[in-house]
Amino acid sequence: MKHLLKMLDLSTEEIIDILNLADQLKYELKHNIPHPHLKGKSLGMIFQKSSTRTRVSFETGMYQLGGYPLFLSSHDLQIGRGEPVQDTARVLSRYLDGIMIRTFEQKEVEDLAEYGSIPVINGLTDFCHPCQVLADLMTIREFKGQFDGLKMCFIGDGNNMANSLIVGGLKVGMKVSVACPEGYHPDKQVLDFAKAYEGFELTDSPVKAAEGADVIFTDVWASMGQEGEAEKRKIAFKGYQVNDEVMAAANPDAMVQHCLPAHREEEITEKVFEAHANEIFEEAENRLHAQKAVMVKVMG
Ligand code: CP
Ligand code: NVA
Repeated sequence: MKHLLKMLDLSTEEIIDILNLADQLKYELKHNIPHPHLKGKSLGMIFQKSSTRTRVSFETGMYQLGGYPLFLSSHDLQIGRGEPVQDTARVLSRYLDGIMIRTFEQKEVEDLAEYGSIPVINGLTDFCHPCQVLADLMTIREFKGQFDGLKMCFIGDGNNMANSLIVGGLKVGMKVSVACPEGYHPDKQVLDFAKAYEGFELTDSPVKAAEGADVIFTDVWASMGQEGEAEKRKIAFKGYQVNDEVMAAANPDAMVQHCLPAHREEEITEKVFEAHANEIFEEAENRLHAQKAVMVKVMG
């Protein structure tokens, strides 16, 4: 595995390998077993959007692996003043051992990988959020023991999270059901991929999508960069909420996942959020372990 650009690039075997390593690294950290797999290596972390989890988990994770993380805000980099990504890639490749980037366009991440000569990890684009979904799959396996026979449900915007969950969920063998309003469907590339799977369903009914589900996901109605559409989206997504009605349609022992940050009483009620806080914050913790596994796989 050379880079982590999107879930579509990973084979099922590669996903399971990452999850197994993530479990092992979590165990080692909890038992104070040193694991300096990236001793002496440097990771540049380019952020063109805000972050709490991604920044802190990559930075701490790199430190725990014996490496050195550099936080590179686009406000400070020349990239923010228009230096092409192709040149940034070739320059950074001469200093660093890996780059993590959070940005808008998926093409920018793909270009960074193409023009640079070091591994690139996608820390979120408008198209996808593979690091998050690897942590989500890790959490599901941790709570449910396996993927076989499970149904995953996503309710809300067909955004970066929906795109990555559909691909990741189907690749590891889960059924995937998605409820989105008209006009906010997942990316065409993802729907074309999902078409081949019998266990995939796209509907406009949150309750129908949740029927018999073992894991319920949701995400914000307006993602980073869409702040200007927030009011319009509040109208479009009314009813696309994880609440008691949706939970009643799911399996009685269904878990709830949210990548965070969450907007209570919009995409999820306070009540459901707090009832499942344990699963949601384990999911947030697993970002650390899953990303350490990714870094070891691509930079180790
Ligand atoms: N879930 C997630 O990626 O969180 P941050 O935006 O805080 O990094
Ligand atoms: N869909 C959200 C995810 C945040 C982690 C966004 O892109 O802002």
